[in-house]
Amino acid sequence: MGEVHVMDHPLIEHKISYIRRKDVGTKEFREVVGEIAQLMCYEATRDLEMREVEIETPVAHTVGRELDGKKLAIVPILRAGIGMVDGMLALIPAAKVGHIGLYRDPETLEPVEYYCKLPADCEERRVFVVDPMLATGGSSTAAIRMLKEKGVKNIRFLCIIAAPEGVKRMREEHPDVDLYIGALDERLNDHGYIVPGLGDAGDRIFGTK
Ligand code: PRP
Ligand code: URA
Repeated sequence: MGEVHVMDHPLIEHKISYIRRKDVGTKEFREVVGEIAQLMCYEATRDLEMREVEIETPVAHTVGRELDGKKLAIVPILRAGIGMVDGMLALIPAAKVGHIGLYRDPETLEPVEYYCKLPADCEERRVFVVDPMLATGGSSTAAIRMLKEKGVKNIRFLCIIAAPEGVKRMREEHPDVDLYIGALDERLNDHGYIVPGLGDAGDRIFGTK
């Protein structure tokens, strides 16, 4: 059974409060989303497998530890998820990056798939799916379904803001997936927006509205 981790780090909380403000512009919004992604990556990699290695320092022989286990991949859900990729790569630069393109139909709120390109060996990797917003959960559950259909078994999902409705749906459809949530908000409004949220993450990252 996967776990649900709601971040409690002061820097993450501070930065999320900052980008919620409606008068924060595109440049700053994008930069701070990257910083939050980097901090969340740190939290979401705490328990990666390690192995012992023998090391010759300039002074002595010692035994250290380095990463072991599955190689890593990052899969942003287009388009807003792209805003989290560089922050993740800053900490795990050897990770491969796949892309899943989904947009939410504004009427039905159902996800519509338009792109999928994944690392050839993605089923052998631990995959971090990233999207700033988990609202109804339609997009993220669909993206994870697509990954599972390709044989990926080891999946973590990172979002900056989640609604309880989306968390519930993720837990029901993908109970094996670990969730890393920057902030858990109150609810969805009638248009499927997270309240209080931060508005449309994609538009705010790319300046399209
Ligand atoms: C946003 C967001 C998520 C999705 C969340 O994307 O980035 O992918 O909505 O909503 P859900 O949980 O109800 O599916 P959007 O569809 O606006 O596309 P965009 O990233 O291209 O702006
Ligand atoms: N997608 C967003 O970008 N924001 C929301 O509040 C909900 C879905």
